[in-house]
This record gives sequence, C-alpha cells and structure tokens, in this order.
Amino acid sequence: NPVRFSGVWRFHELLPFAPQDKLVTVGEGQTLLQQTDRVGDYVGMNHGQLHLQYEGMNPSGSFKDNGMCAAVTHASMMGAKRAACASTGNTSASLALYCSATRLMKAVIFIGSGKISYGKLSQALDYGALTVQIAGDFDDAMLRVREVASELGIYLVNSVNPFRLEGQKTIMFRVLESLGWEIPDWIVVPGGNLGNSSAFAKAFMELKQHGLIDKVPRLAVINAGGADTLYELYERRGVRWNAGRVVMDPIVDYNDKMDREHIRADTIASAIEINRPVNLKKCLRALDFMDGVVRQVPDQDILDAKAKIGEGGFGCEPASAASVAGAKLLRREGVIAPSDRVVCVLTGHELKDPSATVAYHTSDQDVFNKTLGSRGVTKASYANR
Ligand code: F0G
Repeated sequence: NPVRFSGVWRFHELLPFAPQDKLVTVGEGQTLLQQTDRVGDYVGMNHGQLHLQYEGMNPSGSFKDNGMCAAVTHASMMGAKRAACASTGNTSASLALYCSATRLMKAVIFIGSGKISYGKLSQALDYGALTVQIAGDFDDAMLRVREVASELGIYLVNSVNPFRLEGQKTIMFRVLESLGWEIPDWIVVPGGNLGNSSAFAKAFMELKQHGLIDKVPRLAVINAGGADTLYELYERRGVRWNAGRVVMDPIVDYNDKMDREHIRADTIASAIEINRPVNLKKCLRALDFMDGVVRQVPDQDILDAKAKIGEGGFGCEPASAASVAGAKLLRREGVIAPSDRVVCVLTGHELKDPSATVAYHTSDQDVFNKTLGSRGVTKASYANR
C-alpha cells in the first residue's frame, strides 16, 4: 500500500493530483534526518545544530526518486508509453528504475557524452533504458530532449515537469517531521537545474497557507564554482523575483555572454554541472519566499567537505557535498550563526561516483592526475583540512 510504505505518498493529501489507486511506488522516501557533530564541527556549528537529510538512501540512490514516483504516476494516468529526460545521471537512473519496476513505460534518456559517472550510467543500462549520448553537455542534452519529446509526443520527466516537484516537496515534510515540526533556521541544498530548491519553497508555502506552520526557514542554494549561473545572476547581478515579475535583461545578457565566450559548465560535481538551469525563475521565487542566499564553492571545498561527510559516517557524491561546503562558507561569513539549526540535504549516494572519491584519496599519482589533475585540486589540502 503506497500510502503506508512510501515516504512520498504517505503525504498524499498534500500532493492532491493523483487518486490513491493510481499511485506508483518502489518504496521511495524512507530517508532520515541525521544529526552529526563531526560534520557540524567542520562547518563550525554548535553541538547538535548540524543535520544531514540523507536522500542517497532512496531506491535508486538519489533524491530523484521522490519526484520520479510522482511524475511516473502522472505519466501513467496520461497513458504514456514512453518517458524521456536529459540527465547528468541521477534523473536517468531514477526514471529507468521506475519504468522497469512498474513496467508501465520505456525510458529514453539523453546524456552529454562523457559527462556521466559510470555508477549512474550503469544503472540506466541495467534497468533497460534506451540511452542516447549527445555530443555536448547537459545543457545541450536538455535542449535536444525538449525538442524530441515535443515532436514525438514522449512524456518529459525533467524537473520542468511540475509533478516531480510535487513529490520532492515531501523531503521537507520529512525534515520537519524529524524535527518534531520545529522549523530549522536554514535549509542548504546544492543547485543544479534548481528543481529541489523550487520544490522546497513550494512545500513551505503550502504548509504556511494551510496554517500548519507559521514561519519558514531560510534557503541557501549552493552552486559549484564551475557551474554558477544562479550565483552570477542572483548575487552578482541582483536578479530578483519581484512579485511575479523577473527583469529578464540580465538573464538574456548572461546567456548571450555564455554563448559568445563559449562558457561551459565545468565541475567535478558532475550532477550539478549545469549552466542553464530550467527552473531558474521558480528558484528566484523560492529565494524570495525563503529570504534566500546563493553561494558558489570550488571543487576543492566540495571534495574536502565530501571527505569530512565520509569521516562522519555518512557518504555522498560530490554534488551533495556542495551543501556542506556552502554551509561552512556561510558560517565563516557569519551569515549562518553557530547556534542556528542547519539542515544540509545530501542528494546522492556515495557509490554514485566513486572515481572522484578514489582519485581524491589515492596515493597513486596517475589515478589522481586522470580525474583531478587538471582541476586545481590538491591532496595537500586534504591532509591539512
Ligand atoms: N545533487 C544531485 C546528486 C543531483 O543529481 C542533482 C541534479 C542535484 C543535486 C541538483 O538538483 O537540479 O534540483 O537543483 N541532477 C539532475 C540529473 C540534473 O539529471 O540527475 P536540482
């Protein structure tokens, strides 16, 4: 019974688009909020104040399952036979899993060639997805899949799909549940296509509208330094959601600049190696509603934070560690106070991208060079961190 065994569908009253007999589940959302002083000390928090929402423990190993069960439910209600996405890996693994487990649809996935970790690619292949490599990166794959899906009438499950965001709201419901419905001071989340941050704000908006909470946490969205469009627009160019009106000029201007100067996303955190986030406007609204901030962190900080998370007994993929690296930066800046209660979302499992981890810890210079040598990352900093 999905309503009992899914950490998403047990909140079905707050996801009102699907009747109970249509709900698709593979047991997603059985995830926990973990309190950790070892990582908290690293970030600079007082005892007991740092929490990790451990979404890597989902069936396909990332937070995407929260949204995919909802998107696949809607797709099946629409009678779809095929569902497609562009992906840096986790969305495709999740879609492939739901399609095979529920036998409802064939998954078609578009990935930037060489831009996906083997852990994630192997999931999509094993679960039987049709896998299309695009010459280019995620941003190119996203463009192509939108064209192909609309031409061929294939159901699109990227986070432009509103039903996915509905499911991802439940990550915040579970955080609040774990905290006894006390409101934390900060939610810190990595930013890629900006679906999660948008979904989280929607969750808090609705809880507030229903009168279930009376205040909301602040939101920190953390970009990787090499994929920092949101940071550029929000923090540097002052682009804001303004009662529904977003001044588009700086956004268009920055997109033109990226085209002209061939600026491409580039980070070890391949899951968030995205420069044209499709949920940009929704995220601007989220930042407005949750009094948000945006930061960018370099690969070095991401990998250092990731190693600390591992030492703390958790483990995640590089993109997820951006949240902890970002919290540490905000603590250092004094934006986050040591006494604040902070929730960092760990979005994907450790085993999703082992090559970055091995390269970081190895004493074999060749292995290090192959993955990290060109990224300005040093191991010395690991030893001294
Ligand atoms: N963390 C992980 C592990 C991810 O896989 C993603 C996105 C994000 C963070 C960023 O989340 O897009 O909601 O801001 N991965 C997508 C994919 C793009 O294709 O798997 P977002």
